[in-house]
Amino acid sequence: MPAAVIIGAQWGDEGKGKATDLLAGRIDYVVKFNGGNNAGHTVVVGDEKYALHLLPSGILTPGVTPVIANGVVIDIEVLFQELDALAARGVDVSKLRISANAHVITHYHRTLDKVTERFLGKRQIGTTGRGIGPTYADKINRVGIRMQDLFDENILRQKVEGALDQKNHLLVKVYNRRAITVDEIVDELLSYAERLRPMVVDTALELHEALERGETVLFEGGQATMLDVDHGTYPFVTSSNATSGGAATGSGIAPNRIDRVIGIVKAYTTRVGSGPFPTELFDESGEFLRANGHEYGTTTGRPRRCGWYDAPIARYSARINGVTDYVMTKLDVLTGLERIPVCVAYDVDGVRFDELPVSQSDFHHATPIYEELPGWSEDISGARTFDDLPKTAQEYVLAIEAMSGARISAIGVGPGRDEIVVRHALLD
Ligand code: GDP
Ligand code: IMO
Ligand code: MG
Repeated sequence: MPAAVIIGAQWGDEGKGKATDLLAGRIDYVVKFNGGNNAGHTVVVGDEKYALHLLPSGILTPGVTPVIANGVVIDIEVLFQELDALAARGVDVSKLRISANAHVITHYHRTLDKVTERFLGKRQIGTTGRGIGPTYADKINRVGIRMQDLFDENILRQKVEGALDQKNHLLVKVYNRRAITVDEIVDELLSYAERLRPMVVDTALELHEALERGETVLFEGGQATMLDVDHGTYPFVTSSNATSGGAATGSGIAPNRIDRVIGIVKAYTTRVGSGPFPTELFDESGEFLRANGHEYGTTTGRPRRCGWYDAPIARYSARINGVTDYVMTKLDVLTGLERIPVCVAYDVDGVRFDELPVSQSDFHHATPIYEELPGWSEDISGARTFDDLPKTAQEYVLAIEAMSGARISAIGVGPGRDEIVVRHALLD
């Protein structure tokens, strides 16, 4: 079993952190390959609750080597805070490896994220304000700062000068903000260098060598398929490739080394921030899901938009990612509903779409065509085998499996580490 990827199949917050944590006991390396501290993963271990943003969730498992790979954007202050907070709770963080090619989020990226959102007005994306978009924009524009630049003051200064040259014009003349000096950025970044030095390595080489030794590598995606910059609901997306292909480019491990793609889906749907969401609910059913599922963002605390399960999205995710197994989380949240609507197709101005319409305008206008499935009222949090679930809950899972493009191999019945029903082994 060489390498596996975990990805979000909807709009994020599916419970990827819990799924990674669940598998971490079986793996040697856990790799974050995209995004930054826009992610928020809540993992519950016994009575302890951990909120991770930048570090991969696998760091919570003793013996696992956590890796922040080249595809990630790093806010170094946040990194140190997260490491210190975990260390204070007794988590061993000493093995962390960081790619020399990962890009650095600076003060000017965070500032630009916030001011551009403000200027977008009604068209705003609803970003997390962490500087993610501007940092990836600089990477693609070839004016980014990489981790390795922190160890060469001369180069660092040149690069920061080059980047600020354009940005200060923008900040001062367009956005009416103060100019940022080269010195304040360079001094801050240099102050991090010494602590970072032992962690910053050639992570692609290290992962390759681990795979050659027969060790197991788990790639942990941040965000999700529908937030992917190429395959999501553009422009209401994040700025990285959150789909399984991103694990290859974001880590330097070739696609043919990856043979398992584990998609995480909620038993319903949520979304944070702006953008189309066909099954979104604005009534008491939405409130029911938000309250029962504690649907408030781990990163920004914003209430999540809630809606019913959307099967065309699951099929789309299965195709784009090559999902081999789905983990369906939060089935327990649906307990108590008499009937559960599931979106099986869309209606766009009187035309039926069984798959996602290619035009974003059509998707904005799509209204769900629902099939209603019977619910259950029994508490399912103690279920550990499929047979422990009430008959109608089993039927809900089987009906959704038939529509979603991949088998459902595990089912979350509560937030705790052991609150899961496993139908098929996720790692061989
Ligand atoms: P991630 O971003 O995909 O890692 O997901 P988040 O951590 O942002 O959101 C998922 C939330 O659901 C977390 O608070 C988890 O503790 C919780 N969770 C995960 N699986 C289950 C489940 O099966 N049932 C319930 N009730 N909660 C779950
Ligand atoms: P996890 O890993 C849910 C959303 C933001 C916004 C859009 C762009 O916890 O599933 P960004 O700050 O990335 O430029 O914001 O993407 N977003 C997420 N939504 N879960 C996440 O991560 C998210 N990361 C970003 O709300 O709509
Ligand atoms: Mg999250």
